[in-house]
Amino acid sequence: MSTIQRDGFGSRFGVLVAVAGSAVGLGNLWRFPYMVGNNGGAAFIILYLAFVIVLCLPIMFSEFIIGRRTQSNAFGAIKKLAPRSGWLTIGVISVVASVAIMSFYSVVGGWTLDYIIKSFSPSFLTSDSSSLAGQFSGYTSSSVMPVVTHLLFLAISALIVVAGVKNGIERYSKILMPVLFFLVLLLAIRSLTLDGAGAGVEFLFKPDFSKITGKTALAALGQAFFSLSLGMGCIITYGSYVNKKENLFKISFISAFADTGFAILAGLAVVPAVFAFGISPSEGPSLVFITLPQVFAQLPFGQIISIAFFFILLIAALTSAISLLEVIVAFCTEELKWSRKGAVIATFLLIGFFGSLSSLSQGILADVKVFGKTFFDFFDYTSSNIMLPVGGLLVVLFVGWKMKVSDVYDELTSGATISLKGWIFKSILFIIKYVAPIAILIVLINSLL
Ligand code: TRP
Repeated sequence: MSTIQRDGFGSRFGVLVAVAGSAVGLGNLWRFPYMVGNNGGAAFIILYLAFVIVLCLPIMFSEFIIGRRTQSNAFGAIKKLAPRSGWLTIGVISVVASVAIMSFYSVVGGWTLDYIIKSFSPSFLTSDSSSLAGQFSGYTSSSVMPVVTHLLFLAISALIVVAGVKNGIERYSKILMPVLFFLVLLLAIRSLTLDGAGAGVEFLFKPDFSKITGKTALAALGQAFFSLSLGMGCIITYGSYVNKKENLFKISFISAFADTGFAILAGLAVVPAVFAFGISPSEGPSLVFITLPQVFAQLPFGQIISIAFFFILLIAALTSAISLLEVIVAFCTEELKWSRKGAVIATFLLIGFFGSLSSLSQGILADVKVFGKTFFDFFDYTSSNIMLPVGGLLVVLFVGWKMKVSDVYDELTSGATISLKGWIFKSILFIIKYVAPIAILIVLINSLL
């Protein structure tokens, strides 16, 4: 045991809100709807749900087990359990993936900031799709404002992270999630009752399995990992702050359930409106920003709802961004022995730079390609579709094959204070050892064919 007093979550509610806060973010409200639109609708959603249940839950248990067992950052955790081994790749992926994800995440966070401001202007809400599309691309492709809002978003996240786990992350995570839920529910109801919403409902619920290819399966897997914050040590890091008595099952189930609920609800808020307004579902990253203002325009007090929506979306994005930053900062403070402040500043500078590149890649740097992709797409694709699946694969292999079974049992039962039937434990272990790794491998290999 380390003698240094480590920071940690103060209460069960705090842990839940922080983990759910990490999971629920732009991944649900911005990324999920356009991934569904790009990948054929209902069949994608079914695959997504299957991955959440079969793969994501076991991976979440596994990350929690590693984190709480070792009380360390992702790199330090693996170092404690398997010193100087190839398993340390997990630790390396965690830091690299956080930087990569934040390098586009904070750009989109900046867009939400700008859309809060835009919502104040009465002319913002219109039912004219093409003017909203033009407004969006005009803004995101410009060279100054999006970079400024990206840096602002990153700075706010950094300030919260400097404050530490209990006073920063936990406190800021607590209040606004339920409000967000009701707002998205309201939007979903309005969207579903628009004229012409039926085609959208069909798109969401009537699967056409011929649309599933290796690539869409990988996209669903990447989206599931991304949405639940899995595969890069984020939950290892948060797990390290969780009290020894806490029930890891409960936290995992509730977080996964809340996250999936938010994603489906966001799909219901966006996709029917997409069809009703005649927008293409495969519009990509701009989808939410073009569609929702039109739904707001159809609501009483639309302007207030718009301001509230983008504001709370910003909060949801922040609670996710801080969990990503915490992975890097915990690594720098515990492994490199930097001060928390120094670590945050260095992280800010690094992501500030890469994020600016990915912001500019929507405009003047659009022609600069890394492996055939713009900076923005490169960071998004490599993190979600490569690093997270590979990281998740290594995590389940680690817990299934490298850790002592007695340690795994001890963590899952919180030191034998929670009763866990033998067959349930054996089934979970079986999934972690065989089912999850094989399934991830199949998806990864299939996507290359
Ligand atoms: N899950 C968050 C979202 O949906 C983003 C996120 C936070 C994340 N931490 C992560 C994604 C770790 C991948 C890995 O917005």
